[in-house]
Amino acid sequence: MTSIYDIPSPFFGEKIKLRAVEMSDLSDIMKHWNSYETRVSLGKYVPSSSKEREDWIKKVNEQASKGESFTFAIVHKESEEFLGTVALKRINMINRGASLSVSIHNPENQNKGYGTDATRCILKIGFNIFNLHRIELHVYEFTANAVHVYEKLGFKKVGVRREASYIIGKYRNDLVMDILEEEFDEIYG
Ligand SMILES: CC(C)(COP(=O)(O)OP(=O)(O)OC[C@H]1O[C@@H](n2cnc3c(N)ncnc32)[C@H](O)[C@@H]1OP(=O)(O)O)[C@@H](O)C(=O)NCCC(=O)NCCS
Repeated sequence: MTSIYDIPSPFFGEKIKLRAVEMSDLSDIMKHWNSYETRVSLGKYVPSSSKEREDWIKKVNEQASKGESFTFAIVHKESEEFLGTVALKRINMINRGASLSVSIHNPENQNKGYGTDATRCILKIGFNIFNLHRIELHVYEFTANAVHVYEKLGFKKVGVRREASYIIGKYRNDLVMDILEEEFDEIYG
């Protein structure tokens, strides 16, 4: 019989691991959260104060206590450097659905494989721990690297919210993407 200790933890990826977000992460969050590229890609139009981010940490921990949403810190597996966050939000236990979001805060840490790794982990957490049936996300069409990551991991484009977002002088499309439990099982076994 397989022991639980033989089952790899979904909280560990190849390069990163996921853990709870702590108030002590605030200074790391403030280092890069307001980076223009990251913020705009996440629809945060204006920079956040440290008070606003402190309230956010409190809020995500309250939501986790209630089982509504789970937000995890993404940290480097060896150095434990804080890289960003990944979340399953709006968990609905009737539909067994949730919304996913992910961000690697420092633009210099983007395109190094961390986002793919963290998103793969949160999919395993969603389907294998929370027993979800469907995970969806919304992504700006112009964030081509993000769309590529999600497609690579098995998400399908299921809709376009045409010109739904006014960002830096122009109306832009949002994509709705999702992945179903059976599709996850087919890819990840
Ligand atoms: C989107 C995000 C989470 C992706 O994480 P990441 O660590 O940067 O991405 P990875 O390094 O894992 O993968 C990037 C992939 O995009 C590809 N890529 C890079 N630029 C690209 C472009 N212009 N068009 C298409 N693909 C591109 C890379 O080649 C890589 O794919 P590969 O592994 O198949 O070669 C991260 O960049 C981020 O946080 N961006 C800012 C916030 C954001 O956009 N969040 C998503 C909101 S829905």
